[in-house]
Amino acid sequence: MKPKYYAEPFKIKMVEPIRVLTAEERLEKIKAANYNLFYLDSEDVYIDLLSDSGTGAMSTAQWAGMMTGDKAYSGSKGYKKLVEIAQDIFGYKYIQPVHQGRAAEKVVLPLLLGPGKYAISNMHFDTTRAHVEIAGGRAIDCVVAEALDTETYSPFKGNMDIDKLKSLIEEYGAENIGVIIMTITNNSAGGQPVSMKNIRETADIADKYNIPLLIDAARFAENAYFIKEREAGYKDKSIREIVREIFSYAKIFTMSSKKDALVNIGGLIGVRDDRGLFEQIKLRTIPTAKLEPIR
Ligand SMILES: Cc1ncc(COP(=O)(O)O)c(C=O)c1O
Repeated sequence: MKPKYYAEPFKIKMVEPIRVLTAEERLEKIKAANYNLFYLDSEDVYIDLLSDSGTGAMSTAQWAGMMTGDKAYSGSKGYKKLVEIAQDIFGYKYIQPVHQGRAAEKVVLPLLLGPGKYAISNMHFDTTRAHVEIAGGRAIDCVVAEALDTETYSPFKGNMDIDKLKSLIEEYGAENIGVIIMTITNNSAGGQPVSMKNIRETADIADKYNIPLLIDAARFAENAYFIKEREAGYKDKSIREIVREIFSYAKIFTMSSKKDALVNIGGLIGVRDDRGLFEQIKLRTIPTAKLEPIR
């Protein structure tokens, strides 16, 4: 029998004071925010259920890493270490750190989209949809029907609807689809996971029509865990192996490191092997990048 609750194998050694407003004060704040909770100040919120993003406690090793890291203006060893570790985890040749996930989207999406172009995703996260639209594109969600039914169980409710994906490509024309985005796990569908089979089938379609497949990778490790737990053929594979396989199907990823990478702020862009695309990404992140050799 599996225990219902696993005791945490760590101590939390830091406290951050928070305050509770009275019910009247909270009502005032909510009214003043015009009932849009995004306009509340976080210091007025006692229990914040908006997101777990960036809220985790970092480990002693992570804090120690910041102390031994080198924050030189350029060529820092902290940067090199981060890039090497990300290359090893994802199996991608090119890695660009950015300040968070939405920054990665702001850099990458205008390179793939423009007026008249479409992005098709199992579901766009809100910042991703915004950056598709800022780039002039149109965002189309293409999630399986089970995702919208909260009453029934299905192991991979985050999946792309493969038949719908094919018909959307036929309808709009492959040349007008700038990117296919696979969000793992599927945040806007309640954080539901995507199966390896579905990622593979989506990649086959992307290859067939010559459309780049991008992984929005905020919860890549959790998705890999669901594959290990729920998908036939993966129970004896390590999370590392599963992650490598997931990313082998895509060409690019954008990642908010504030989720599964368990840091308070940060993001990554990865490009599997397209040096030309990575050079453009470098130029959009560091304007002087063209002066540097890309390793
Ligand atoms: C799936 C997904 N994509 C993109 C983002 C944006 O990342 P960030 O909040 O680091 O800008 C988030 C989280 O906010 C996310 O969950």
